[in-house]
Amino acid sequence: MATPPDIAALRTEFDAALRATTTVAGVKALHDRFLGRKSGSVTAILKSLAGMTPDEKRQIGRDANELRQAIEAALAEREATLGASAPPPNAVDVTLPGRVPLVGRRHPLTQVRDRVESIFSAMGYRIASGPELEDDWHNFEALNMPGDHPARDMQDTLYLAEPVTMQGARAGGRPATLLRTHTSGVQIRYMESHTPPVRLIAPGRVYRRDNFDATHTPMFTQVEGLVVDEGITLGDLKGTLNAFAERLFNRAVRTRFRPSFFPYTEPSAEMDVACGGCDGAGCALCKHSGWIEVLGCGMVHPAVFEAVGYDAEKYTGFAFGVGIERLALRFYGIDDIRMFYENDLRFLRQLPL
Ligand code: DAH
Repeated sequence: MATPPDIAALRTEFDAALRATTTVAGVKALHDRFLGRKSGSVTAILKSLAGMTPDEKRQIGRDANELRQAIEAALAEREATLGASAPPPNAVDVTLPGRVPLVGRRHPLTQVRDRVESIFSAMGYRIASGPELEDDWHNFEALNMPGDHPARDMQDTLYLAEPVTMQGARAGGRPATLLRTHTSGVQIRYMESHTPPVRLIAPGRVYRRDNFDATHTPMFTQVEGLVVDEGITLGDLKGTLNAFAERLFNRAVRTRFRPSFFPYTEPSAEMDVACGGCDGAGCALCKHSGWIEVLGCGMVHPAVFEAVGYDAEKYTGFAFGVGIERLALRFYGIDDIRMFYENDLRFLRQLPL
């Protein structure tokens, strides 16, 4: 036979290659290179035994088989150590940085509305509601705005193409013809079905024929308030609303009541709160007026009591209406109301809970 294969050299070659192998894939490659069925170098020697003399066969066959066993053992051992330090397939890699799950939160408008509700709930007010599809009586007429009353123009009303019949006790028997322009109609509905004393707030959506711009939306949110009992005075109104403002803004606030007009209250006023940014001196937040408008209010007009069958000689009361979007704009220092309705998470996530 030609030169006998140099098995010692092959062993040295294998040892060097094994030292350089650091991956399971590398171990597999080494197996192919030395022990592969087709092209493994040790396999080649074993195949070549067939053409050797019996002496050569014995000697070389023994050496080559020893080498094959040594290589198999070494590869198995290396594979085991590498496999132990690498994660098994599909395992959880506990060293990866965690993914923080997104936590949901209430919408900023809901946060402000909840805050108003909890302040009045703590003062013993009941939370009432009414339908968004409303009839003329509850939205206008019973609130001292008969058919051609000019005050109806204060609110651009969205009318239904066809009147719809409302179901249930809240309907009041009249077909709905409009989308309510304010929550004041809930006062009427409540008084129609309850006797005094009354102490309620009525949060809800209202609709007006307005274009969508930085300060207007065709749908927005109000919270209505109503208190009726014997001996309720303007002092009760001011004391209650001052307390509300302090709790809402979470600080001592100065308020002022500006004379205003609403057909369902007499006298009527708007309550302003001294701006938190400048305490009345004027700044960008309050558009340099020093004051922030918070709500409309007044003493319930006797005509409203008459409409619901309350004795206007016996009972007096006050009412108010808060615009939630406007409050939220001030609260968060935002100058475009549309942000509240676009539901852009990059915006919503910035607002504190
Ligand atoms: N309804 C009024 C509005 O839509 C708000 C309001 C003002 C409600 C005075 C009241 C009130 O109850 O007394 O702007």
